Amino acid sequence: MAGENSIFSKAEKWLDEDWERMESALSERLEAFREKRVLVTGAAGFLGFGFLHFFSYLNRNLLKTGRLSVVAADNYIRGRPRWLVELAAASPDMKVIRQDITKPWPDLDGKKFDFIIHGASIASPKVYRRYPLETLDTNISGLRHMLELARLHHSESILYFSSSEMYGDPPAHEIPTSEVYRGNVSCLGPRACYDESKRLGETLCYLYFQQHGVRAKIVRPFNNYGPGLRLADGRVLSDFCSDVLADRDIVLRSDGSPTRTFCYVSDALTGYLLALLSAHHAEPFNVGTESPEISMRDLGRMLLDVAGSKRHVIHAPSDEIDYLTDNPNRRCPNIAKARSLLGYTPLVDLRFGLGRMLEWYKRFVAMEELAKDEPGGHA
Ligand SMILES: NC(=O)c1ccc[n+]([C@@H]2O[C@H](COP(=O)([O-])OP(=O)(O)OC[C@H]3O[C@@H](n4cnc5c(N)ncnc54)[C@H](O)[C@@H]3O)[C@@H](O)[C@H]2O)c1
Repeated sequence: MAGENSIFSKAEKWLDEDWERMESALSERLEAFREKRVLVTGAAGFLGFGFLHFFSYLNRNLLKTGRLSVVAADNYIRGRPRWLVELAAASPDMKVIRQDITKPWPDLDGKKFDFIIHGASIASPKVYRRYPLETLDTNISGLRHMLELARLHHSESILYFSSSEMYGDPPAHEIPTSEVYRGNVSCLGPRACYDESKRLGETLCYLYFQQHGVRAKIVRPFNNYGPGLRLADGRVLSDFCSDVLADRDIVLRSDGSPTRTFCYVSDALTGYLLALLSAHHAEPFNVGTESPEISMRDLGRMLLDVAGSKRHVIHAPSDEIDYLTDNPNRRCPNIAKARSLLGYTPLVDLRFGLGRMLEWYKRFVAMEELAKDEPGGHA
């Protein structure tokens, strides 16, 4: 077990500020987790990091006398992160297993899962282009296994992460994009394995609810960021942060004009848990922030400014031929539905969130680094 002064303990305390914000936003709804058993898939990933730390925070605070137990599953396709090993060692209520969800779920101990947070997928475009068939299998047969598990266990709720990518590249009059827009994606090409299988995943959730009464919840995340995202992930903000931390110019792979909105991890997780705990089955919710809709060039400039760096934003095309193929030009959610039906309100300002993400890397990641991720192995 990590000591009081270990990097792990210091990081855990530093992160509490984010979980406190979530606790006050979710307030009494969190009682739903008292003494419950939760499965988190994709536990070694970015959102897994957030969920597992938040649940550990709840057990140390609100749920002290009625702790929830967590089974954390991942196939470690990108390695087994050090934080997961340390968190599991420090958490008597957490069991970590290596499991490829494209394989049928093993009967662990006959106990049922009250909630399933199904985050396993290959989310970074750089990585899913390398593993397109694995991406497809995980998003389709993996999800099917999880829905089947929820059916067999009569789970209270299962959360499915679709994606804002399912909208493709909407026309200008569909931005900000609401859930009624049906999308515009290519079924062929380098992004199809992800976009199309995320769309079909929503259909699977809908069918399991219609046919079997499985209480599946569907969220469509819009670009999350914050502590827990691997520096080497390959998503835009981890790439930009790597440049800043190495005191290099920020390198844009596009001309800098595509726009996105960015949702800080505590806001995103709050939205996901509001959906999980809601009574809105098999219907989609955009979870993100509406503003600022910022170009990649301005995002790079903002990050340099937050970091107090004198470096510049420069352009250098990627060596990867498909890097920009079918890359959406604009992505910005309309979150009116989540606001009115879930009571969702994002709180974290982009500059503040970027500062916190950089601080996380500086204090707890950069020196230890990624690096120390253990090769995939049995937990
Ligand atoms: N973070 C975002 O901004 C964002 C945006 C849109 C959608 N999503 C979706 O949210 C979910 C979580 O995203 P994330 O950012 O944490 O992704 P991530 O890539 O950081 O983590 C996903 C995890 O799933 C695991 N995994 C992949 N295939 C698996 C398999 N077959 N069996 C078991 N584990 C497997 C990976 O090892 C990884 O640890 C994903 O479904 C993703 O598509 C996230």
